[in-house]
Amino acid sequence: MEIRNLSETPSLLNSFISEIRDLEIQKDSMRFRRNIERIGEVLGFELSKSLSFSKLTTQTPLGSLESEVINDDIVICSILRAGLPLHVGLLNYFDKAENAFISAYRHHTSESGAFEIKVEYLACPDLSDKTLLLVDPMLATGQSIISTLEALKPFGQPKETHLVSVIGAQQGVDYVTKNVDDTVKLWIATIDKELNERGYIVPGLGDAGDLSFGKKLQN
Ligand code: URA
Repeated sequence: MEIRNLSETPSLLNSFISEIRDLEIQKDSMRFRRNIERIGEVLGFELSKSLSFSKLTTQTPLGSLESEVINDDIVICSILRAGLPLHVGLLNYFDKAENAFISAYRHHTSESGAFEIKVEYLACPDLSDKTLLLVDPMLATGQSIISTLEALKPFGQPKETHLVSVIGAQQGVDYVTKNVDDTVKLWIATIDKELNERGYIVPGLGDAGDLSFGKKLQN
């Protein structure tokens, strides 16, 4: 898997990442969601440089010119519910994209923190020969991404697959690398060192779904 960790080159992106981690700024959930969206826009812009382009002649009021525009048929797939603000960020830029949604959640099987990934709801267009952007803001263990890719198989073989994430744990990035083929690309804002015993990224930011949409009762 090709990994593009955007925080390796310091940029404006780092300010957005630092805000979503900050305990005080996190109290403003609208700002949290909007920062995740902005990160999605930056990741989408970087990713766009790797897509295929074709020539388009545009008529202006004063003449005409040839430019290069994106050729790919894009499908953005996000994992509910935490993926929604990142999904919106990508859709702001890839505005003609089709969309897929999947519910993949952690079902805790013991007090020790062990869990399995449950996939239940899935709404997806035909993926054959499309460019799939699979969105998961927190790449923690990597299990949700791999379970989602498995669940998407009956919908056709994409031309290419891009994983888009905000914060990853090195362990999760390694797990995904082992379980996808070399053509898959990961676009990630930053990678942290550790996972705690409950599978949360440390230092990470906490629970991205709760910070975006409020706390939920555990099931
Ligand atoms: N999901 C989150 O929201 N946060 C983590 O740290 C890991 C998974």
